[in-house]
Amino acid sequence: MVLSADGRTTKGDDPNIYTWTSQEDQDHFFSFIAQNNLIIMGRKTYFAAADKIRLSPERKRVVLTKNPELYIDLAVEGQLDFSSEQPAELVRRLTAEGYTTALLVGGGTVNWHFLQSGLINELLLTIEPQIFGAGQSLFAGPINSLKLELLEQKQLNDQGTMLMRYKVH
Ligand SMILES: NC(=O)c1ccc[n+]([C@@H]2O[C@H](COP(=O)([O-])OP(=O)(O)OC[C@H]3O[C@@H](n4cnc5c(N)ncnc54)[C@H](OP(=O)(O)O)[C@@H]3O)[C@@H](O)[C@H]2O)c1
Repeated sequence: MVLSADGRTTKGDDPNIYTWTSQEDQDHFFSFIAQNNLIIMGRKTYFAAADKIRLSPERKRVVLTKNPELYIDLAVEGQLDFSSEQPAELVRRLTAEGYTTALLVGGGTVNWHFLQSGLINELLLTIEPQIFGAGQSLFAGPINSLKLELLEQKQLNDQGTMLMRYKVH
């Protein structure tokens, strides 16, 4: 997830994050996608980023929606699924299919459901040096406080875009 310095994952109401995220964060994100064979996201994130998504037989993308039947025509066997499974049920099924790690790429609603289910073990956050004052949050619902342990940090450019990897305790 990429955030402004005041913790917003969107710039106000604009669903398109690529108007404000740095090229370096985008390069990092897309290379990280290429290293993962299972990507999970919410339906709103899928449609906000659809023109950037390049399907490939090398990775499965699962889009969570309460109405998967509406998107049957977009589904691609082994590459793009629309599912109404709850996080624990989905992770159980995918584990049984042989997947060992998944990259959850937002948005705040599905992040919140996965966190509530205890299914997030690492957070990869990029902080862009900008303040928006309004926008969405990393988690779209109430959560209990959690401690994080910094595993890695990296400055991505001269503007001061910072990448942080945390373990969730
Ligand atoms: N800054 C970043 O790194 C970043 C990353 C990702 C997204 N974003 C932004 O965040 C925004 C989207 O976030 P969001 O929180 O509004 O939406 P979201 O999490 O992407 O998607 C929410 C949708 O997911 C489905 N859903 C959620 N929980 C579900 C469950 N338990 N079971 C089945 N379906 C479930 C529902 O789809 P239906 O309504 O179809 O039922 C719900 O409306 C976009 O503007 C996007 O650009 C930012």
